[in-house]
Amino acid sequence: MNHFEYDAAGVLHGEGVSLVALAQAVGTPTYVYSHATLSRHYRVMDEALGGVDHLICYSVKANSNLAVLQLLASLGSGFDIVSVGELRRVLAAGGDPAKVVFSGVGKRDDEIAAALRAGIHCLNVESAWELARCAIVAEQIGLPAPISLRVNPDVDAKTHAYISTGLRSSKFGVPFDEALRLYRQAHASPHLRIVGIDCHIGSQIVEPAPLVEALERVLELVDTLQAEGVHLDHVDMGGGLGITYKDERPAPPRAIGEAYAARLAPRGLRLLVEPGRVIAGNAGVLLMRVLGTKTNGDRTFVITDAAMNDNIRPSLYKAWQDISPVNHHPDRPDEVVDVVGPICESGDFFAHDRTLPALVRDDLLVMRSTGAYGYSMASNYNSRTRPAEVMVHGDSWTVIRPREDVADLFATERLLPIARLPVVDSSS
Ligand code: LLP
Repeated sequence: MNHFEYDAAGVLHGEGVSLVALAQAVGTPTYVYSHATLSRHYRVMDEALGGVDHLICYSVKANSNLAVLQLLASLGSGFDIVSVGELRRVLAAGGDPAKVVFSGVGKRDDEIAAALRAGIHCLNVESAWELARCAIVAEQIGLPAPISLRVNPDVDAKTHAYISTGLRSSKFGVPFDEALRLYRQAHASPHLRIVGIDCHIGSQIVEPAPLVEALERVLELVDTLQAEGVHLDHVDMGGGLGITYKDERPAPPRAIGEAYAARLAPRGLRLLVEPGRVIAGNAGVLLMRVLGTKTNGDRTFVITDAAMNDNIRPSLYKAWQDISPVNHHPDRPDEVVDVVGPICESGDFFAHDRTLPALVRDDLLVMRSTGAYGYSMASNYNSRTRPAEVMVHGDSWTVIRPREDVADLFATERLLPIARLPVVDSSS
């Protein structure tokens, strides 16, 4: 459920705010997030895990706007980060470092040091070399490193290949047999403190079975470690819960929460999860405007002022995302169109063969389900400024990031000194 609905006059609203009025005030393209939806999704997840001691570590990469992080922190959320940049964001938004886990396949020494100095909950370590670097940095700065190993349970998450991470052949995590050896090493190190175990098998997972299978495999390892006297406080099951983009019917968080609780609560293990998409995905839309339409051969194109640099998911993953007009147009005939951006690439499309009411210049559209991996993956390709971001709350709204100015794009670039330029002889 989300809070983007049409009113009786057929105008799409974000909570109590008309998106027509918002487009007029802020311009387009603009990402619009709902405060109520974000809060609701966090609470649903929290309640779903009620059967076991747990900590939700929202995955910052999904949507890292400070206002989003601030809202989630105020609800009690922890954070899953993958860079020192994300750590700085969490701290700037008032997040509690003691509720932060640091994931990622390759952390630099300065990132490990910054995380230890901030006092994070743990580093999710993904390889033997990373474990060694954690111990070295911990010794150098005189702070023991709390660690958890990300293990690769070799489970097929049955999702898009680019976002599937739990197979033996993927670059993520350490294989099971190696994990045991690394835990023994960590146990023997005076600079490392083992706090947990971690896995993340992929994203946009709609069936609970692969997640439960992964947990069962992880618990085999927990038992082996326990028998050797290596005690763990938590099991981190990562993120990955899928959402409805079109007609997917993801398992409700409660079903997964219950399956996790049944296996963890009796062992006295705390559960950590790292949800991103399920919290933010359907809490946001990308508001955009039609620049014009044209017909080439047998195809009709609707060209919008948003493009692949603003939301790359359709181009990168062939992701299907709903596109709806902001105003109902019951009087207009349906047309089958391609919705595309203005960028100089055929890969710059939002939808192929989509049935929409006939559109004309200046019509407003929204692309739904863009609250996660929308702005956070946006770029300045083609020297396009990234969109504004707005949070709606009840009848009011706040610009939580103004639209970039073109001057921002090259403000840090430098021209060569004149002396370095070749002298052009115009006489020859
Ligand atoms: N934890 C780890 C270690 C992760 O790598 C990820 C996502 C998450 C948690 C959060 O997963 P979620 O709950 O959002 O599924 N850009 C892609 C998704 C990439 C996911 C990367 N890792 C997309 O737009 O579909």
